[in-house]
Amino acid sequence: TGYVTYDPGFMNTANTASAITYIDGDAGILRYRGYPIDQLAEKSSFLEVSYLLIYGELPTQTELAAFTDEIRMHTLLHEDLRRFFDGFPRDAHPMPVLSSAVSALSTFYQDSLDPFDADQVQATTIRLLAKVPTIASYAYKKSIGQPFLYPDNSLGYVENFLRMTFGVPATQYDVDPVVAKVLDMLFVLHADHEQNCSTATVRMVGSSQANLFASVSAGVNALFGPLHGGANQAVLEMLNEIQADGGDVDGFVRRVKNKEQGVKLMGFGHRVYKNYDPRAAIVKKAAQDVLERMHKPDPLLDIAMKLEQVALADDFFVSRKLYPNVDFYTGLIYKAMGFPQKMFTVLFALGRLPGWIAQWREMMTEPNLKIGRPRQLYTGAPERPYVPADQR
Ligand code: CMC
Repeated sequence: TGYVTYDPGFMNTANTASAITYIDGDAGILRYRGYPIDQLAEKSSFLEVSYLLIYGELPTQTELAAFTDEIRMHTLLHEDLRRFFDGFPRDAHPMPVLSSAVSALSTFYQDSLDPFDADQVQATTIRLLAKVPTIASYAYKKSIGQPFLYPDNSLGYVENFLRMTFGVPATQYDVDPVVAKVLDMLFVLHADHEQNCSTATVRMVGSSQANLFASVSAGVNALFGPLHGGANQAVLEMLNEIQADGGDVDGFVRRVKNKEQGVKLMGFGHRVYKNYDPRAAIVKKAAQDVLERMHKPDPLLDIAMKLEQVALADDFFVSRKLYPNVDFYTGLIYKAMGFPQKMFTVLFALGRLPGWIAQWREMMTEPNLKIGRPRQLYTGAPERPYVPADQR
């Protein structure tokens, strides 16, 4: 058919042009809409960055206030959707609960599913940004058997999520401003990352003109895998395992280098960054600060730092250009904040949501939208005649 080669894992194939996020993996540079990630992490906020990614420009104060208010008005879940959580087993992982509930949103908002109607897309954008934190907190509450808390819309976006997650009814819950600020900053760091696996999935599903809820639900499922968003949970499991083995970092690194079945240095390596992931540098510093400020020293931080030190001095990792990625230190912060390991990837999803939305919207407004439909190299049997069952 003329197809002589293919590109497994899209190592060298662009799936789109995009004006949203720029990465220079060799130089360790990440920018959203031209703004360097370190400046956004330090000076901006998650909702401002969400606006920037989705609409292309930083908002004025009035625009940001209107955007924030609109989101605030949509944080409640329909009572029927609230009951949806009763159907899951208590030990369900919150990621599939999240993707199911996001998918189910399209049954509640059938008035806003047209991907080419700007008002409907805007309504879906706001609903997703507003409701996903509520869904995430309910998935968590379900897993620990606690009652759900309705959103408190006098609170900010992240504060509201923290209260719904950690608060209990009839008891005052004061959100720690340090925790809220750091979580907001971590969401900024995760907000977009050009054509990563989940975002490429959102685009692929959307390219069939599936609605935004359906596309984002698919993105959540793609993010769940341990090579992608699931890595932040896997890093903590790895650090716990090393600690349980007496903190033998060198022994663990030896197992990684020997390519023992299933043993990888989780939180290391990246398809695009062949230099220090700029997000990892910011998260590492935040982890050190937060653990100190919260007076929660964690021996796992020492193990992580030793691992990094050993790996970065070892030719196996140096020659393969393997550096810590964004997931390497985030879990330690989430743990200090009180999140169980199962919630770590959900936090990644909350952060990545505006990126998924922005990329889907960018695609839908392309003049020449094409359904994603790769070709293949056929390697199966040549033509052969059917053999009836009694003659096989
Ligand atoms: N530990 C040990 N060896 C590794 C690692 C690692 N974490 N990552 C890559 N390698 C080796 C790999 O075995 C291969 O070696 P060789 O050339 O001898 O076969 C070489 O480095 C190239 O790796 P690759 O798997 O071909 O690279 P990739 O671009 O296909 O994979 C990756 C990128 C992120 C999936 C991979 O580095 C990995 O599995 N890392 C661990 C999981 C992880 O931390 N994922 C989070 C990524 S960042 C945020 C996100 O997307 O969620």
